[in-house]
This record gives sequence, C-alpha cells and structure tokens, in this order.
Amino acid sequence: MAKKRTYAHVARFYDLLDLPFEYGRYRTIRPVLFEGAGGTVLDAGVGTGRNMPFYPEGGEVTGIDISPQMLARAQKRKERLGVSAELRLMDVTATGFPGGHFDYVIATFLFCVLDDEDQLPALRELLRICKPDGEIRLLEYTYSSDPQKRLVMRLWAPWVRLVYGAAFDRHTERYVEAAGLELAEERFLYQDIIKMLVLRPR
Ligand SMILES: C[S@@+](CC[C@H](N)C(=O)[O-])C[C@H]1O[C@@H](n2cnc3c(N)ncnc32)[C@H](O)[C@@H]1O
Repeated sequence: MAKKRTYAHVARFYDLLDLPFEYGRYRTIRPVLFEGAGGTVLDAGVGTGRNMPFYPEGGEVTGIDISPQMLARAQKRKERLGVSAELRLMDVTATGFPGGHFDYVIATFLFCVLDDEDQLPALRELLRICKPDGEIRLLEYTYSSDPQKRLVMRLWAPWVRLVYGAAFDRHTERYVEAAGLELAEERFLYQDIIKMLVLRPR
C-alpha cells in the first residue's frame, strides 16, 4: 500500500523527474532487456511505459503495475506510440496469471522499489508465471564500488527513498536461489551502477 501511495503522488511528475536519467542512462540500455524476446512478454512494474518503444514486434506484451496513476500514463504513451500491449492493474507478488504463461518476464527498476520482504515473494511469483524454458530479466541499481560515486549515491539515497520508495542496495540476487531460480547472467549495463540480472527456472 505504501508504494501505491508513493506512486499516486509521483506519477504526474515521474517522467519529468526522470528525464535526465532517461536520456543520460536508460534509453540506451532498455533495448538490451528486450533483445531476442518474443512470444508472451511481461513488463512487470510497467510504470509510465518507458520500455514501450523497445517491445518486440509481434510479441504479445502485457504491462502490469500496482499504481493506477502510473498505468494511466502508460496507457497514454501506448496510444501515442501505437504500441500493442495489454495493461493491467496487478501486484507483482500475486498476479493472478496462470502458471507458466510467459516466455519472457522483464522488470526494469521494479526490484529496487520492492521492500526487502517483498523480494522473495515477487521472484517466486515471476518464476510461477514464467514458462519452464522462459527467462526473467531484471534491471537494477547497485552502489558503485568507486568511493566518490558511492558517496554521491549515498547523498541521493534519501531523495530516492522519499520520492520513488526505492533503494540502491536491494541485493535482489541474494533471493534468487531461495526462489527456485538460477542466476544465468549478471552484467553491468551502465558503469558499475546499473546491472541486468538474467534468471532462469531451475
Ligand atoms: C521506478 S518505477 C519503474 C517504472 C518502469 N519500469 C521504468 O523502467 O521506468 C517502479 C514501478 O513499479 C511499480 N510497482 C511498485 N510496487 C509494485 C508491485 N508490488 N507490483 C507491481 N508494480 C509495482 C510502481 O508503481 C512503479 O510504476
């Protein structure tokens, strides 16, 4: 509920606040998450629909989000871009999709928002709705190992928590094994700050 409230407030400013990061960092790395993806694809925590330009052509894409206000923005973007996708109000920890439904499950900057106690339930739910030969790809923040960059991130952290309910140190990879998943790949896509986790059912 806390995240729903947070995003009810930030939704109308979200794209504006994120603009420098979107064009300075995210724009070039988002397509990597969708490389080779097709079939049934889930964009979990779709937000305002920033991944939409990179959705696979011919893919059957569903975007879910816990925030009606963020989904409303995603709907507008979908219409503007003429993207084919279904948008649904759902919690990633209990989606209601049938088991083994998706070929690809993609979540960009969702797990840095999920509280520690929601990390494992969310991964378990993604595993449940992913096909046995499917793939889960996450894009996440992490603290830099460079002391100067780390300090800057520490100074930013209270703002990021207040405005987005997010943190740079969720360590989602720690929950992967307990969720019944295998960490197939872990790759930094922007400095040593933003990384992609590729997970597969074990
Ligand atoms: C930081 S935004 C990222 C949005 C988008 N994926 C992007 O890359 O720009 C996180 C999104 O996750 C959504 N979210 C938070 N908790 C959620 C949950 N339990 N289930 C589904 N979506 C959730 C928020 O409402 C928000 O839209």
